[in-house]
Amino acid sequence: MFLFPPIQSSLMFLVPGSGNKPIGLEIAKQLNCSVIDFETRRFPDGERYIRLVNDVPHETAIITQSFYKDPDGLLVEYFFLTKTLFELGAKAVVGAFPYMPYMRQDSRFKPGETISARVMASIIESTATSSILALDCHLHRIINLSDLFNIPADNLSAIPALAEYLKSIHSLDDPIVVAPDVEATQWARLAAPILGTEFIEMNKVRHGDTSIETDFTKFDPSKRDIVIVDDIISTGGTIAQVAGHLKQKGANHVYALITHGLFAEGAYNRIRQAGVDDIITSDSVPNRFSKVSVASIFARPLRMHQ
Ligand code: R5P
Repeated sequence: MFLFPPIQSSLMFLVPGSGNKPIGLEIAKQLNCSVIDFETRRFPDGERYIRLVNDVPHETAIITQSFYKDPDGLLVEYFFLTKTLFELGAKAVVGAFPYMPYMRQDSRFKPGETISARVMASIIESTATSSILALDCHLHRIINLSDLFNIPADNLSAIPALAEYLKSIHSLDDPIVVAPDVEATQWARLAAPILGTEFIEMNKVRHGDTSIETDFTKFDPSKRDIVIVDDIISTGGTIAQVAGHLKQKGANHVYALITHGLFAEGAYNRIRQAGVDDIITSDSVPNRFSKVSVASIFARPLRMHQ
């Protein structure tokens, strides 16, 4: 369901957040809209300074932000920008987030834990943000992004573009799409028809940040090309475990299609050692495997309202 509302003004400008400036600039180019830049630095005590360097037009502002590698610092940057733009005359502020952080903790698994996804949403709402476009947010127990926010919020996906790219560079032999856990089924379901095949869902139990157990009894991967689809590579543990097992059971090639390649330390080696033949990610978080740009995925809904 498309929830992103018409932007109130046909005129808009874009402020590229420092989490991923190139993607913001590319979206602005595709929208043919002006860019407002800002200075930012840290004071000696670690506090952040922000100053917009251009006049703020009385138009709708789009702030792009990928909240990685410093999610907390980039959130503060976003909050400061939003309020300042609004105070200085922006008509409305749209948050366009190629990578949205804090979404995986969507429940209180142990007593006393913070439900970070909900806290994040309520802080964003308390700024001047009027609507949100995000990309392959980790939605699991909270099913829709619009269930998390009281402002319009839409969750776009890079998975179809990643699957098209995979198809264009590898000729797949009897492929099957594998969702490494229950929540990845939503992405496997998008990739499978593009690759002309079916998908299968694994059961994953996480015991800690790097300790994972997966149930592999479900199918015979021998002589098949495997396409593992997920939203995030962080430690690489999930992909490595699934890929390693399927290779041992005789899988042919193993490919990983991942929207957000965070690649925490050791992730790349872990995945390669497990026998993954190719990793394809988007540029939501730029990394050496970013082969698919998400700029047009954001520009499309924004342009519809220009
Ligand atoms: C969680 O369920 C996510 O969808 C990913 O599977 C997870 O974040 C991947 O993390 P890691 O690379 O550390 O296994």
